[in-house]
Amino acid sequence: MAEDDRPIALDAYEKLAEGYAAKAPAKAENGYNEHPAMRRVIGDVAGLRVFDAGCGPGFLTRDLLDKGAAFLAAVDVSPAMVRLATARAGEGADIHLADLAKPMPFLETDDFDLVVSSLAIDYVRDWRTPLSEFVRILRPGGRLVFSVQHPTASYEWLKPPSAFGVHYCEVKWTSFTDQPVTVPDYYRSFEEIVNPVLAAGFRIARIEETRPLPELQAINPYKFHRNDTFPTFMIIDAQLS
Ligand SMILES: C[S@@+](CC[C@H](N)C(=O)[O-])C[C@H]1O[C@@H](n2cnc3c(N)ncnc32)[C@H](O)[C@@H]1O
Repeated sequence: MAEDDRPIALDAYEKLAEGYAAKAPAKAENGYNEHPAMRRVIGDVAGLRVFDAGCGPGFLTRDLLDKGAAFLAAVDVSPAMVRLATARAGEGADIHLADLAKPMPFLETDDFDLVVSSLAIDYVRDWRTPLSEFVRILRPGGRLVFSVQHPTASYEWLKPPSAFGVHYCEVKWTSFTDQPVTVPDYYRSFEEIVNPVLAAGFRIARIEETRPLPELQAINPYKFHRNDTFPTFMIIDAQLS
């Protein structure tokens, strides 16, 4: 059931939600790499109205509230993730169950200063709808910061039939749950990441290939070396004119 209307990763994240919420902060790839890199690139959010697209259990949503964001809205496609994010973020955030592949009419036009999205848009094949929704809900001059799997790592991890283009793939995740979970995903080449962002009307200010925190070296030297020499994720920092 790869190419019908059902979000490809919904069933997998329903199974992963509790384990991901419990284990991601201590994982080399999340807590020691993508999480701190995203927060550093996002920077100061005091007073900003922020939308978190694909919020998962709400780690970033909670952090941005704690850093003084004026308003947080968030969506995720997994009901289990929405429950976890709602519990974590409390009253401060407006969290909806929604598919990023579809329009989000419950979000107002020109209402946000910043859209953030952490490792979620990877699971949407056609980025035109989410990116045009981000353009619609951002005020003029608004900013989009999102992370994706780096094509170098996902080429090795997902084993697509070609390193060009966008390819549906499946891979077994074993580290968040007792039983392995098959996670459908899309491999995307570099041009398939960058060009849709430009076509949507954003200017790309910066791309960062994330590296692990130095403290990972003592905790997990193998993962530190690997993720410090082989890019796992990238962050796109983009702006509307
Ligand atoms: C790797 S997790 C990242 C969660 C969170 N952003 C974080 O960094 O902890 C990917 C998230 O994307 C969500 N997701 C996958 N496909 C989605 C879609 N089509 N629309 C909205 N969320 C989606 C999953 O349910 C999951 O919570």
